[in-house]
Amino acid sequence: QMRNALNRLADSVEDESQKHKFEGEMDSFFALFRRYLLDSARGNTLEWDRIQPPQADQVIDYGSLPANEDGTKYLNKLAVLKLNGGLGTSMGCVGPKSIIEVRDGKSFLDLSVRQIEHLNRQYDADVPFILMNSFNTDEDTSTIIKKYQGHKINIKTFNQSRFPRVFKDSLLPVPKSYEDRIDSWYPPGHGDLFESIAASGVLDQLIAEGKEILFVSNGDNLGAVVDFPILKHMVENDSEYIMELTDKTRADVKGGTIIDYDGSVRLLEIAQVPKEHVEDFKSIKKFKYFNTNNLWINLKAIKRVVEKNELAMEIIPNSKTIAIGNSDFQVLQLETAVGAAIRHFKGAHGVNVPRRRFLPVKTSSDLMLVKSDLYSLTQGRLEISPLRYGGAPLIKLGPHFKKVSDFQARIPHIPQIVELDHLTITGNVTLGKGVTLKGTVIIVCEEGKKIDIPKGSVLENVVITGNLSI
Ligand code: UTP
Repeated sequence: QMRNALNRLADSVEDESQKHKFEGEMDSFFALFRRYLLDSARGNTLEWDRIQPPQADQVIDYGSLPANEDGTKYLNKLAVLKLNGGLGTSMGCVGPKSIIEVRDGKSFLDLSVRQIEHLNRQYDADVPFILMNSFNTDEDTSTIIKKYQGHKINIKTFNQSRFPRVFKDSLLPVPKSYEDRIDSWYPPGHGDLFESIAASGVLDQLIAEGKEILFVSNGDNLGAVVDFPILKHMVENDSEYIMELTDKTRADVKGGTIIDYDGSVRLLEIAQVPKEHVEDFKSIKKFKYFNTNNLWINLKAIKRVVEKNELAMEIIPNSKTIAIGNSDFQVLQLETAVGAAIRHFKGAHGVNVPRRRFLPVKTSSDLMLVKSDLYSLTQGRLEISPLRYGGAPLIKLGPHFKKVSDFQARIPHIPQIVELDHLTITGNVTLGKGVTLKGTVIIVCEEGKKIDIPKGSVLENVVITGNLSI
């Protein structure tokens, strides 16, 4: 039934130039869907008792890699790719997350471009910058990157697949035709990178240009700068895949972790963990690291695993509700993660890197940190202020700040936080210009009331509640 429905979708493509690509996507989707049905019938495929923490040679400490710039000689083999297909829905973004302004009118995307431009200038290199977009992000992204046309940077983009969502009850595709509404489709997670970069022709182009290694990272991670010790280590050890890991703290319990499974390295995500073992999974003693999604992957190896159809990444089923007419429908989208491909590559292993290489922006609180005086910005790189003692402060902003647009309206000027340890703000609160926060600051506004922190305020170790409007 699914195959017939997909064939009908393929028949509905009128534009001949799109037909081939779409048929390829439907074939890939069908393979994913079949695998999902088989996996569901078989039950959980990982046996908990066979899961072990990684062995000593499966995770190398970053500190043990020679810290010189010798790796620069391999820059001609490198291409850098940013994952840019997601919408950042958890921050209420309507466009790609990478176009959110971070500093001085510059977005994540601008800053990532700046990093590569600087790298190329400094080492007289020509590292291409590649964006994997999706049908959700392509348009906004092309508008932004137009301004780099005259620049000395080689930007390539390609679109990841567009797969049909399926109704949860009938397991039939939601879209009725190729042109069907946008919410009938989804980008199937960053694990789609392999097939999409191959199908787009970008993979062959890079290989033809003599590139050997692809450095992949999340669009919002400004800490993912090109690193010479890792590049050198990757080339000289002939490893096909390196995953940058970092020490897990109690705040990162959700991130995927690296495991040893019958002697081979794998990624274990919380979605794959049976309920009775979730606490075990969260343990920072047993599983010490988590995946930063900074990955170094050999391009020829990508070509091999795609051509030989070897990829069988764990499927992450994601449920959504969409409205059709006046009714709500439960739909399913089947996704895969790029980190889960680790087991298909030779010599794959982890490198345990310092936390500074992982500066994700998943919430408005994270955004506040990267926008603040805690970091200074040099050539697109964020560097922690020398005035700061220890790690980043703990910031908790309530639901009034969840959407980026609300956050920007309530905190239009980021306060100085270099001496802040802990900040909690909940309720209808706004901050004026030039506010300084130090120590522990808690601002709790009751429902129906409003607190405006006046411009220039210095708040140090205070709790503010009730209704303060000066
Ligand atoms: P995530 O989905 O893990 O995080 O994507 P996110 O961007 O915070 O998204 P929300 O808020 O949960 O919706 C990590 C990176 O992978 C990209 C995203 O753009 C982000 O840079 N991504 C995600 C893709 O390129 N394609 C996808 O299908 C999904």
